[in-house]
Amino acid sequence: MSNQNRRDFLRTSAVAGASVSVPYFFSRSQTLADETKAKNDRIPIGLIGAGGMGMGNMRAAADYLDVVAIADADKSRQEAANKKLSNGKADVYDDYRKILERDDIKIVHVATPDHWHTKPVIEAMLAGKDIYCEKPLTLTIDEGKQIRKVQRETGRIVQVGTQQRSTFPLFTKAIAMVQQGRLGKILRVQAAIGGAPTSPAIPVAETPAGLDWERWLGPAPKTDYRFLADDKRGKTNGHYEFRWWYEYSGGKLTDWGAHHVDIATWALSVNGQPTSPVSIGGTASHPVEYKDGVPQQNDRYNTATAFNFVAKYADGTEMVIRNDTDNGVLIEGEKGRIFVNRRKLVGAPVEELKDNPLPEDAIQKAYKGLPMEENERKAHWANFLNCTQTRDEPISDVHSHMKMLNVCHLAGISARLGRTLNWDGENEQITGDSEANAMLARPYREGYEIEM
Ligand SMILES: NC(=O)c1ccc[n+]([C@@H]2O[C@H](COP(=O)([O-])OP(=O)(O)OC[C@H]3O[C@@H](n4cnc5c(N)ncnc54)[C@H](O)[C@@H]3O)[C@@H](O)[C@H]2O)c1
Repeated sequence: MSNQNRRDFLRTSAVAGASVSVPYFFSRSQTLADETKAKNDRIPIGLIGAGGMGMGNMRAAADYLDVVAIADADKSRQEAANKKLSNGKADVYDDYRKILERDDIKIVHVATPDHWHTKPVIEAMLAGKDIYCEKPLTLTIDEGKQIRKVQRETGRIVQVGTQQRSTFPLFTKAIAMVQQGRLGKILRVQAAIGGAPTSPAIPVAETPAGLDWERWLGPAPKTDYRFLADDKRGKTNGHYEFRWWYEYSGGKLTDWGAHHVDIATWALSVNGQPTSPVSIGGTASHPVEYKDGVPQQNDRYNTATAFNFVAKYADGTEMVIRNDTDNGVLIEGEKGRIFVNRRKLVGAPVEELKDNPLPEDAIQKAYKGLPMEENERKAHWANFLNCTQTRDEPISDVHSHMKMLNVCHLAGISARLGRTLNWDGENEQITGDSEANAMLARPYREGYEIEM
């Protein structure tokens, strides 16, 4: 593949994809072309948050992207990422806003903890960048309203990292089956997402060298760093383990809910059924006591360990979100049911495809007619990068993402308050419960407010 071809790669792929009706796959030679030769043709990107997922994503998209700037609240992670991703040639920063100031960087990847998504995403949009942000896009429902408003105003391309939408042989195919009417009206969907771990008391510890804890906390409440060594990575309220703390995450309900509730909601959407529930309620166990929706102990994991929620929709459909059965999405329709997870897509309607296959373009239609990269690890990135060229809405756009993430957030509020909530999806308000409604937002710590 010549350099000129490489330069035109994303644009031409996208154009070809838009103009054909059969599934369009990037060719092997395009996606697996020699990387070193094409180095100068790759798109410069700024990485904000060089932890597990930020690193994984940059490796997955390494054929397309050149990581020229890295920001992280932990200097040791800045350095490790620079070495591994950029041969030490990237500029490293403590403050991610230095990346947003640079005119040579048009694209950024945000892979910080969940409480640190909304502010950089909004600031990046206002600075004219396109963004691939990890899921779950927000910590609260109100943050979603803010992001959507700024996205509409700026027209920036924002892809959310729910990469299951770009897993063509499994999740996208399941959606295509629903869209092609193979299940009929959906009566019930179930997102089984596993539970969250507990921890013993985690003592206050000295902050590790390099980690700027004040910066890491950012908009979240000021609190001590905690760490307890164990035989794995250790228990902490910091790196990776933040997802088991209400202060920084919605726990499993948003961590994995963002994946499987997403597929369940996408299925309702392509079938023309309501995607905002009218109520949500159920049961949840927490490892600590909650009062007025707030955990009463601050020295251990506090997000829901086990739960079973039912969201009800105006057409009678129900969505179950639970921890206690096989991880995956069950979609039950009038004509049959299918189960899909990251390993399999099964059910009688899948068997029937042998005699009655889907139309050739069904999966591409489910994928909104956008070009498809067949390498699973790269597909979601390819979709984003194509959309930055064509200015089409990417497959995991912020608007459809928030429709489903609101369901996860509502389950979290219901869990913390221990009661059923009624939801006005149009106005995005919890009705008849001012205490619950106040939990649509959280205060930002002074100095970390979002300026719009
Ligand atoms: N799509 C997926 O399947 C998937 C999988 C894993 C994680 N994720 C998501 O990716 C995000 C990161 O998760 P992770 O497991 O990589 O966590 P992590 O703790 O390993 O990495 C987060 C990094 O962000 C850095 N950071 C914190 N505040 C910062 C700031 N103000 N500026 C710059 N960097 C800052 C931290 O120092 C850390 O290095 C989460 O939102 C998570 O839900 C998605």
